[in-house]
Amino acid sequence: MTSINDPLTLPNGVTLRNRIVKSAMSEALADAYNNPSQALISLFAQWGAGGAGVIITGNTPVDRKHLEHAGNFVLDEHTDMRKVDALVAAGKSGGAAFLVQLAHAGRQTPEIVNPHPTSISDVRLDLPGYGKPAPLTEEQIPELLRKYAASAKIAQDAGFDGVEIHAAHGYLLSSSLSPRINTRTDRWGGAALENRARLLLEVVRAVRAAVEPGFIVAVKLNSSDFQKGGFDHEESVQVAVMLEAEGVDFIEISGGNFEEPKAYSHAKKSGSTQMREAYFLEYAAAIKDALSIPLMVTGGFRSASVMNAALENGKTDLIGMGRPFITEPGFAAKLLSGEIGRAPAVEETFPPADELPRGAVLSWFCTQIARVGRKGQADLALPVVEGHEQYLAAIERVTQKWAAAQKL
Ligand SMILES: Cc1cc2nc3c(=O)[nH]c(=O)nc-3n(C[C@H](O)[C@H](O)[C@H](O)COP(=O)(O)O)c2cc1C
Repeated sequence: MTSINDPLTLPNGVTLRNRIVKSAMSEALADAYNNPSQALISLFAQWGAGGAGVIITGNTPVDRKHLEHAGNFVLDEHTDMRKVDALVAAGKSGGAAFLVQLAHAGRQTPEIVNPHPTSISDVRLDLPGYGKPAPLTEEQIPELLRKYAASAKIAQDAGFDGVEIHAAHGYLLSSSLSPRINTRTDRWGGAALENRARLLLEVVRAVRAAVEPGFIVAVKLNSSDFQKGGFDHEESVQVAVMLEAEGVDFIEISGGNFEEPKAYSHAKKSGSTQMREAYFLEYAAAIKDALSIPLMVTGGFRSASVMNAALENGKTDLIGMGRPFITEPGFAAKLLSGEIGRAPAVEETFPPADELPRGAVLSWFCTQIARVGRKGQADLALPVVEGHEQYLAAIERVTQKWAAAQKL
């Protein structure tokens, strides 16, 4: 019987101590120079002590012109490595493997950070606050690959155990996979999937070549964009197979993007547990069947029984969770010991997403991340809309400080 308590050995020989992974969650806690702040370090100290087998940082851009927001922490030649050393020590303090999620926001870079971000094409994001992108030129591609490789090497030298390349949720590498967004006609785009997947595969190759074999290289991939004419499930299975051939150690499955935010669904308390939880698990099944490397599925897992059944039935090898780690940073140890049977699921008490302002649930959790980092615990009594408004104000402050620092 495979369970959440079982270790897992990855293709590169590294053994993870259990099957629970803290998935990437953007923290917005970097200082104005995009270095780790004390609050970020404290946040990871709590997650580090919390019992998970693997901890993955939030969106960590490889390029300062393509932040997902001004509060991202960045790993490049300008980073203050003493602060990164403290972050690594915090994340690894309890024995988890600690991974950095390498990203490039592409057309999902906010206008205030970059009014004309580089994307795979000039197709603009259909949301306010994002500028008209400029298509990546052939000449810019080697520099982009160098940036991914350099961040991965810096991560390895700093003591991280690996990287996860973010190719989900509509950022550059994810948008490159989408026929709806990648309208190029050269070898980096168009109808042929092998062209749309080329950038992601080249990034993986550049990263793999820059690090030791024992350094974990994972990829987060959409099971589907859930958009008409977008990257679909069938293509996702094919890309997963291509990634396996590039020596990736595991693939994490999620879905959606900014226009179709499917990654953070939340269910009401009623309804069947099995159906409500793990909303990408059925999509992941076809991917799992096509692969021999481990698969991680993230999104909605809450009950130990559902997690153990998914592992036992071979539907996934790793269980990714996000929001429970904000509500209670140490819940994983209790779930693993059997002290609790369910991860905290405060979002189940929220009104349905379509009755709330756009993005409210996500930004409530962002407010709580900052609270855990600064004060040591979430404020579960905070109303959703208030948490949402607090985040909008906080990100505005972070952005102003960041903008002021850019002018120095
Ligand atoms: C506040 C917040 C920030 C997130 N930031 C990221 C991110 O930076 N990168 C990423 O791949 N996913 C991000 N996610 C998605 C989570 O990794 C995860 O896929 C999602 O929360 C679903 O899992 P859950 O139901 O266990 O929360 C974020 C989710 C939340 C709630």
